[in-house]
Order: sequence, then structure tokens, then C-alpha cells
Amino acid sequence: MARVSTPEFWERLYATGGDGWELGRAAPPLVDFVETTPPARGRVAVPGCGRGHDARFLAAHGYDVTGFDFSTAAVTAARALARREGVDVAFEQRDVFTLALDHAHAFDGVWEYTCFCAIDPARRADYVRTMAAILRPGGWLLACFFPLRAQTAGPPFTVSASEIRRLFAPAFRLERAFPPLRSARARQGREWMVLARRHR
Ligand SMILES: C[S@@+](CC[C@H](N)C(=O)[O-])C[C@H]1O[C@@H](n2cnc3c(N)ncnc32)[C@H](O)[C@@H]1O
Repeated sequence: MARVSTPEFWERLYATGGDGWELGRAAPPLVDFVETTPPARGRVAVPGCGRGHDARFLAAHGYDVTGFDFSTAAVTAARALARREGVDVAFEQRDVFTLALDHAHAFDGVWEYTCFCAIDPARRADYVRTMAAILRPGGWLLACFFPLRAQTAGPPFTVSASEIRRLFAPAFRLERAFPPLRSARARQGREWMVLARRHR
């Protein structure tokens, strides 16, 4: 699994058209959530943001957004799209596991989509600790976890509700958890939406 922990692994997928996760638009579960029950505005981190469609969507809806990705191709494309659309959003090229070093308690919210399933599953507890570390006490983490059932060996690596509950329990309280009404076609029935609150 160590290969997925390197930017080179992802760089090669971007370079060879192996980016089968690309939706070309903001994720439908995020759009529905923000348009119906928007979390409090503030600084929001989007880890593993890819080309930044979700980050731009959030910025256009009044959030102060920073997207993080360690792939040059992803960040270059994300910046170009934001510029072209005139959306004010920041992108940092870096490994998300380093964020606590200089973003401790810096964010009011986190949007997680398809980063959790992209990292080495052995690092998931570390990832959750990192998200807790960059959130202020009481901050929110909105996530759409995917895939609930495997179609390939991964990535994306399978997630389960019981694992999510166990990993988030030390630092978060789950406020809402439900299957999203709308998912991208190939993901229908395999996504699980969670709104969690970082312990104070
Ligand atoms: C499956 S893609 C999803 C991209 C985006 N969230 C989307 O929905 O289009 C996973 C992304 O996470 C990035 N990524 C994976 N591990 C990372 C890490 N440790 N630090 C930063 N970015 C990472 C990859 O470069 C890739 O852009």
C-alpha cells in the first residue's frame, strides 16, 4: 500500500488518464448538503482536493477555502480552473499528513471526499487525528465516505460505517449520518454522508 502514499503514484494516474474518480463538477452529495443545510461559514480545508471542483463550489458559496493535494498535476489544474472561473480559493501542494505542523486549529470546517479512501488504510487513524488537529475545537467535519462496497482491490479502499464510527469516536461526535439522496451514477448506493463535530 505504501505506493499510494507517494505523490508519484497519483501523478502517474493524472498523466495517463487513470483518474477515473474525476467528476468534472462538485460532488452531488456536497451540493445537496450545502444547498439545504449549509454548515457555518468560515475557513474550510479540502484534503486531497484533486482538480478542486468541491473547493471552488464551497468558495462560491461563501466559505474561505484551502484545498490540499500533493500532486503537481492536480494543484496546477485546480489553480487554473479557479483562475478561469474567477473563484477566490487557495491551493497548497503538500502531503495532508503534514498539515498539523502549521495549520493547527486553523480551520472551522473540513470537507472530506475521496481522500480517506485514497490513502493507505493503515494510516486512517493518523488521518483522522490530523483532521482533528487542524480543526478548532467545536469545528465541523463533513464527509461523504465511499465506497461502502469494493469493486477493485483499491484505491479506492473500502470503508464501512463501523470503522468510521470507531476511528472518529476519540476526537469527534457524529451528529448526522445518512446515505446521500444523490450520488454520481457509478457511486449510487455506495456512499455514506457524515456530519461530525470535533470535541471541545
Ligand atoms: C481519488 S483522488 C480524489 C480527488 C478529489 N477529491 C475528487 O473527488 O476529485 C485522491 C486525491 O488525493 C490526493 N492524495 C492522496 N494522498 C494524498 C496525501 N497524502 N496528501 C495529499 N494529497 C493526497 C491525490 O493526489 C488525488 O488527487
